[in-house]
Amino acid sequence: MLLHPKDLRDTNILLGVSGCIAAYKALEVVSRLRKRGASVSVVMTDAATRLVSPLSFQTLSDSPVYTRMFEAPKQWNVEHIALAEWADLMVVAPATGNILAKAAGGIADDYLSTLLLAFAGPKVVSPAMNTHMWQNPATTRNVEVLRRDGYFVIEPDTGRLASGAEGPGRFPEPRDVVEEISSFYHSDRALAGRRVLVTAGPTREYFDPVRFLSNPSSGRMGYAIARAARERGAEVVLVSGPTDLPSPRGVETISVVSAEQMHEACLASWAETDILFMTAAVVDCRPAAYSGVKAKKDQDALLGEVVPTPDILTALGEDKGSRFLVGFAAETEAEEGLISARRKLRKKHVDMIVLNRVGGPQSAFGDDHNAVRVLARSGEEDLPREHKRILARQLVDRVVRALPGRDM
Ligand code: C5P
Repeated sequence: MLLHPKDLRDTNILLGVSGCIAAYKALEVVSRLRKRGASVSVVMTDAATRLVSPLSFQTLSDSPVYTRMFEAPKQWNVEHIALAEWADLMVVAPATGNILAKAAGGIADDYLSTLLLAFAGPKVVSPAMNTHMWQNPATTRNVEVLRRDGYFVIEPDTGRLASGAEGPGRFPEPRDVVEEISSFYHSDRALAGRRVLVTAGPTREYFDPVRFLSNPSSGRMGYAIARAARERGAEVVLVSGPTDLPSPRGVETISVVSAEQMHEACLASWAETDILFMTAAVVDCRPAAYSGVKAKKDQDALLGEVVPTPDILTALGEDKGSRFLVGFAAETEAEEGLISARRKLRKKHVDMIVLNRVGGPQSAFGDDHNAVRVLARSGEEDLPREHKRILARQLVDRVVRALPGRDM
C-alpha cells in the first residue's frame, strides 16, 4: 500500500484542548489525526469541558478523555506520568493565552499543564484567541519562550474571529492544523535555528501610475520554497513581488513592488540571513523617468529611456560572509542557457544555480510544475518535471545536504 508521505500510523498523540470558543474545531482535528492512522488521547481543561462535551471527544478518539486531575480517572498520580510516557507527540489545539503562559512558566496546576511539564517529547501548540490577547506583549513573550524551549508553534490565521472582529488569532482550518502537525512530526528539523530569506514573484517597474514593465512570474516556486524551508524548521522571511498567492503560514511575508524595494527589503534582513533563495524574477531594467500622470498614447516614445535595476543577487553576494546563496536562472535557449548559468555560478558569489526553461509550451512561469537543472560547484543534477511543491522540497534538501558540516 502506498503510504501518505505524512502518515501518522503508529503515532500516539496526546491532544490537549483548552477553553477557547474554537475548542469544537478540535473534534475535527481528532478525526483527521485518526484518519491518518494516529492513536489519540484527549486531555481537556476545565474551561474546555464547558464548551464541548468530553463525550464527543471520547467518541471520536475512541479513548477515555482526561479532565480533572483529582477526580477521574483513578490513580491519577501514576496516570499522568504513564500518559506522558505513552505519547510520541503532544499537541495543544486550540491553545489559549492562559495555557501558553502556564507552559512558558512551567506551571502545572491542572491535568493539561502538568502533562506539558511531564512530557519530554516534541510539543506543538496551536494558539487561538482574540487579536488583543494574541498581540499582548505577554503572549508575544510567552510564545518566544516556548519557541526557544523547542515547541513548534502553529501560527494563528488572520480573519473573522468569534467576537466578530477581524485580525490575527483565528484557529486555522483543522485540515491545515493536521497538515502542520504531520509536517512537523516528519521533519528532521535540519534547518532549525537557521534564517532563510526567499524572494519570489516578479517586480514591477512603473513608468506612469498605471503602466509598468514586468514578467509573468507567478511566485509559486518561491512560495513553495518558503514553505519547504519552514517545514524543515527554518525561520523564513519571504520578500514577494506582486502575486495572487496567500502568505504561507508561519512565514514572515514582506510585500514589495519594484526591484529597488526588493533590494531594500533583502538588505534589511541580510544581517540575520543564513541562506538565500533568490527565486524572484527581478526585472532587469526600469524606465529612467516616471511620469506622475498617465502618459498619452500619441506620445513619441511612451516608455522612453530605460536604466538597469540593481542586481540584487550580485550585490548581496558581495557581502556573502558564510551564507549559502542560491540563484535562479530563467533561460529560453537550452544550450546557451546552460553555458550562461555555469558562468553565473562562477561570477556571482553563489553556491548553487537553479536553471529553469522559460517561454515555450513548458515554461516555468505560471505553471504548477517545473523541471530544473541544479548547478553546484560539486556537480550538476537534473530534477525531472514535478509539482513545484515537491520540487521545492528537493531543492531545499539539496541545500541542507550541501551546508558546511553535512555530507554531500
Ligand atoms: O543574471 P540573471 O539575471 O539571469 O540572474 C538571475 C538571478 O539573479 C536570479 O536569482 C534573480 O533572482 C537574480 N536577479 C537579481 N537582480 C536582478 C536580476 C536578477 O537579484 N536585477
